[in-house]
Amino acid sequence: MASQLFKFDFSKRNPATPGAAPAQPAAGTPSTGIAARPFGTAATTDKMEMSNETFNNFRNLIYKLCGIYFTDSKKYLLEGRIVRRLVSHKMRTFDEYYRFVESPAGRSELNELFEAITINETFFFRAPQQFEAMEKIVIPELISDKKDQTLPTFKIWIAASSTGEEAYTIAIIILEKLRNKYPNVQFQIFASDIDRVVLETAKKGIYKEYAIRNVPKDLLAKYFKYDGTNYILSDQVKRLVRFSNINLYDAAQMRQMRGIDVVFCCNVLIYFDMASKQQVISYIYDSLNKGGYLFIGYSESLHGLSKAFQLVHLPKAMAYKKE
Ligand SMILES: C[S@@+](CC[C@H](N)C(=O)[O-])C[C@H]1O[C@@H](n2cnc3c(N)ncnc32)[C@H](O)[C@@H]1O
Repeated sequence: MASQLFKFDFSKRNPATPGAAPAQPAAGTPSTGIAARPFGTAATTDKMEMSNETFNNFRNLIYKLCGIYFTDSKKYLLEGRIVRRLVSHKMRTFDEYYRFVESPAGRSELNELFEAITINETFFFRAPQQFEAMEKIVIPELISDKKDQTLPTFKIWIAASSTGEEAYTIAIIILEKLRNKYPNVQFQIFASDIDRVVLETAKKGIYKEYAIRNVPKDLLAKYFKYDGTNYILSDQVKRLVRFSNINLYDAAQMRQMRGIDVVFCCNVLIYFDMASKQQVISYIYDSLNKGGYLFIGYSESLHGLSKAFQLVHLPKAMAYKKE
């Protein structure tokens, strides 16, 4: 039902005016936005233009499938994001690609389409203050609430994990700081994303310089192997994280997540409108144990969205607690 789906507002991330050239990423940044994606040659793509009818068809299809909504002014963004898919299939028009995606033969192409339209920017130790607050305050507090259990489990969920850096950072913190401190606690880390392509990358645990640039040197040496091109994460860390494909707006999928102690849902809410955020936040609320914590991105807020959570000021970070 379209009205129940959330809207993914790219304007927050890409403030360029309609029709304007997209911003160029900083040197060395991965392909996170329209300008960073390979477009094929000028000769193959210069004359490609999406008709309004085809744009509408794509918009409706994408909205129905995953709730991401392209407003009229974002037509150029959609064009830019999917043109490389046409090029890779040697197709000449957007309409041809639309008909392919919609056909049974094009079913497997849907993942590629999701990959093309989502923004996957992430890196290790992206939010150090949050991780410190989690390690020093949130986890000790919640574990002390479980003191009557002989072998307690502690569940952490990274709800839009992209290529896995945030989840693996938490796994490294657990190995370094928490496992010996709480030997009887079984830590479980779940990571999920709507985009299957990023999840496959996450499972491999192979990263470029950009992703590991904030990893402290001693941890880099301990948990990664450099092969001259890539940084390969150790199995010891990879084993701690379980990845799965979950759409934050899919009620049935979200119901699978229950009994969670801490949720990280960072740098994804910013793209949704109020109604969509409210829906997603209420699903996350239901997934948490009473007293559990939610961390969201530094530039995100639950202001006006949910009275059920209590905003907690931790020494260097903020979090939301389920009362
Ligand atoms: C910018 S990344 C954030 C990665 C990580 N949480 C961080 O803060 O570094 C946003 C991720 O949200 C995912 N995403 C977008 N819409 C989603 C949805 N409806 N359900 C689940 N994941 C979604 C995208 O695929 C992308 O990987």
